Amino acid sequence: MKKLEIKNLFKYYDKNCVVKDCSITVDDKKILTILGPSGSGKSTLISCIAGIELPQSGVITLNDSILFDNNLKINLSPEKRNIGFVFQNYALWPHLTIEKHLSFPLKAKKMGKNLIKEKCEIIISMLRLEDKIYKYPHQLSGGEQQRVALGRALIKEPDLLLLDEPLSNLDALLRERMQVEIRHIQKELGVTTILVTHDQEEAKKISDQVAVMNHGIIEQIGSFDSLVDNPQTPFIEEFIKR
Ligand SMILES: Nc1ncnc2c1ncn2[C@@H]1O[C@H](COP(=O)(O)OP(=O)(O)O)[C@@H](O)[C@H]1O
Ligand SMILES: [Mg+2]
Repeated sequence: MKKLEIKNLFKYYDKNCVVKDCSITVDDKKILTILGPSGSGKSTLISCIAGIELPQSGVITLNDSILFDNNLKINLSPEKRNIGFVFQNYALWPHLTIEKHLSFPLKAKKMGKNLIKEKCEIIISMLRLEDKIYKYPHQLSGGEQQRVALGRALIKEPDLLLLDEPLSNLDALLRERMQVEIRHIQKELGVTTILVTHDQEEAKKISDQVAVMNHGIIEQIGSFDSLVDNPQTPFIEEFIKR
């Protein structure tokens, strides 16, 4: 079954076309990386998928529901998309404890107290945050804050997880550890995921498929090895190194 499907998506800021005729499919339980240099349109593209930015044309479907279709005049609000989003700067709430961060998305869904507690415990142990439950974000290290942001996105069991350069604020050692962890959690939960990065080592380690983006265009999609072995544009030949 195909999970996320994007067809012929265009996004302009005024006359500046930032996402050009983008078509991507991410299969159920797979992780696709969008790899490209700064300014290539990666964040804009995944913001369109999340519903934070409004594209001008194209179609986005997730499972059997249409998230966006310009011709049909459909544009679901972000809350109705059941998508988990982790931003580069985590965007944690300074005045809320870790426990509150994790329970908030479930309270918003009007879930019962006991079930919320149960789900929080599962995520907390998966992310190894047991001793941080009642701490505030400023009492946590960068890596721990990053895990909280990931937990907040995962706890509502999203149909799709979007990660926009989630590791770029971490030092090299922690980044490598978190890459392994993200891949592990993604597989364990079987959550369909898009990861945005400008770091090809990260793309190589984490992805099932890599989509290379340049100047708003997805130039090629395939396994990392296939991009190295069979680059289809001069940009990819230059940009991707083994
Ligand atoms: N809100 C905005 N208004 C106008 N231009 C924007 C806005 N957001 C991004 N852009 C422009 O769109 C292009 C792509 O940006 P972005 O999607 O952030 O790239 P990336 O995430 O690949 O670094 C850039 O040229 C950027 O300046
Ligand atoms: Mg970006």
